[in-house]
Amino acid sequence: MKSAESIEALSKESRRFPPPPEFAAQANAQPGIYKEAERDYLAFWESWARKLDWSKPFTKILEWNEPFARWFGDGELNASVNCLDRHVRAGKGERIAYYYEGEPGDRRTISYKQLLDDVCRFANGLRKLGVKKGDRVAIYMPMILELPVAMLACARIGAAHSVIFGGFSPDSIVDRVNDAECVALITADQGWRRGNKVPLKRNCDAAMANTPSIKHCIVARRVGDPIEMKAGRDVWWDDVVKDQPGECAPEAMNAEDLLYLLYTSGTTAKPKGIKHTTGGYLTHVTMTHKLVFDLKESDVYWCAADIGWVTGHSYIVYGPLANLATSVIYEGTPDFPDKDRLWEIVERYKVNILYTAPTAIRTFMKWGDEYPRKHDLSTLRLLGSVGEPINPEAWMWYREHIGGNRCPVVDTWWQTETGGIMISPLPGVTATAPGSATYPLPGIAADIVNDQGESVPLGGGGYAVLTRPWPGMLRGIWGDDERYKQTYWSKFPHKYLAGDGARRDLDGNFWFMGRIDDVMNVSGHRISTTEVESAFVEHPKVAETAVCGKLDDVTGQAIYAFVSLRGGELGSTELADELREYVGNKLGKFTRPKYITFTQELPKTRSGKIMRRLLRDVAEGRTLGDTTTLADATIVKDLQDRAKSEASSADE
Ligand code: WT7
Repeated sequence: MKSAESIEALSKESRRFPPPPEFAAQANAQPGIYKEAERDYLAFWESWARKLDWSKPFTKILEWNEPFARWFGDGELNASVNCLDRHVRAGKGERIAYYYEGEPGDRRTISYKQLLDDVCRFANGLRKLGVKKGDRVAIYMPMILELPVAMLACARIGAAHSVIFGGFSPDSIVDRVNDAECVALITADQGWRRGNKVPLKRNCDAAMANTPSIKHCIVARRVGDPIEMKAGRDVWWDDVVKDQPGECAPEAMNAEDLLYLLYTSGTTAKPKGIKHTTGGYLTHVTMTHKLVFDLKESDVYWCAADIGWVTGHSYIVYGPLANLATSVIYEGTPDFPDKDRLWEIVERYKVNILYTAPTAIRTFMKWGDEYPRKHDLSTLRLLGSVGEPINPEAWMWYREHIGGNRCPVVDTWWQTETGGIMISPLPGVTATAPGSATYPLPGIAADIVNDQGESVPLGGGGYAVLTRPWPGMLRGIWGDDERYKQTYWSKFPHKYLAGDGARRDLDGNFWFMGRIDDVMNVSGHRISTTEVESAFVEHPKVAETAVCGKLDDVTGQAIYAFVSLRGGELGSTELADELREYVGNKLGKFTRPKYITFTQELPKTRSGKIMRRLLRDVAEGRTLGDTTTLADATIVKDLQDRAKSEASSADE
């Protein structure tokens, strides 16, 4: 890992948007909350934990045996009870939990009471198959309602779920299932994606040739085409729930019992099974969902992520359900059947709160504002962003074209490992700055440190670290405590290393600048990829850019930019020159990219992250590394061809 110490703070974004007074007046979080939390951060978290339903109340708050935390460690509760039963008991059973919309246009509405009923029947079915407390269950499903039902049913009987994103290949299923020795695999016959059928069960079949621990494969029917079912192993969802009663006694779980595993990639090939437990996690996602999204009982809330990522776990399933939210779930892609699908959904369900990713926002920008303009988006009152740094232009576009210049935009920084949001504006309190996640939330402590681990004064950049435990934090990596210590706790004593570069401005706002591994070094200047990319997209012709370093005899590294233009055109040598000047003028001459390759699309994972590793391979002219997680593998191939013919001609 390179030094982050002197990442140069180049951009000077100075626009600020204080909360609109009407919003501030009604907001769930009021200004005093930061002081209150700082006075006694454990008492602050305790007060949120006490709002949950505990079958055995806790007496301990935090036991910290660095780097291993126990939160509320002598309490007992069940996550599904907190998400469902307690609301039904409180007379809210008729409230809508989810508006569901499938990609082909099928729609379903499910109340809290019906959801509880479905969860209980499936939980009973799992128990009957022999799944028990302490087991791990893999889930590989499309975005259908059976997915949250399966997760909550596991939680009900005390089995940890391990959701494997439905875009993964059979090999990825094998690695994850075997690592955790899952006893069952829950899937669907097929899924829908952009009008095509995704062969989920067939992928499971291929995987199950190499997963000896799997005893049962449960298959929900989504598409309906005939598929192979292996007798004795495979069983239809409908048969599992048939004749099961709608009540199911929940397991009383210790607060520190495993709720789920979620695998995330690291620098080595082996994915890390991130462990999240029950009481602290629920506390963290409940608090953040309520305060960051300012959730009210009248709201329709939509997190347009996939449940297969942590964003969906925390902010489609556990946080919203624990808070009695009414949410939207959409199965498919934003451009099916047309590029206004999301806006049509916002209009249909009168969505008030929308949470999506910068990569999606930049795609919408590229498509043009005529799509959102076709729909009534006036019900929106709050917008959120998550997943990567959002460049100021995309932030401003989101605010203007989706939020009608009236909705606060909350840029939320967190990770699979953190479980929930860590650094984010509170929409009724914080003055937002386009491109900044602003400040650590109440109860959270973060810092920016140099190579020696010393706090960098305001104005400077370095490594983002978290300086005390928090309830939603990962409890380690499944089966590998050593890797947990090594990855997160070894670089600086007593500090959690997030792996991101960041800087703070003089007001203390955090500006995240991408993963440390992506920092470029040009003639001794440490330059953040994010800042160069932001400068590019300020140019009116540019829709999206990814930059990386390419080894250079003279400057150590030279900047290589992959650029996609608005309207999907491919640029010219003249435009490349113009863009070099443009970026150089914004950030300083030394940041002028030496190489520019135009492309219609950037290579992205199915979760929308740009695969920089592959771009570096393309830039360096190397053979490509692992491409199995790419959403569309033809893009890099095309890029390699263009890079060969164009980058050299753009060379000065
Ligand atoms: C990494 C974590 C958080 C759920 C989805 C991603 C980047 C995430 C932001 C943000 C700048 C961000 C960081 C982080 N990231 N949100 N608002 N601003 N960067 O979870 O796959 O575990 O990725 O995503 O680099 O470390 P993940």
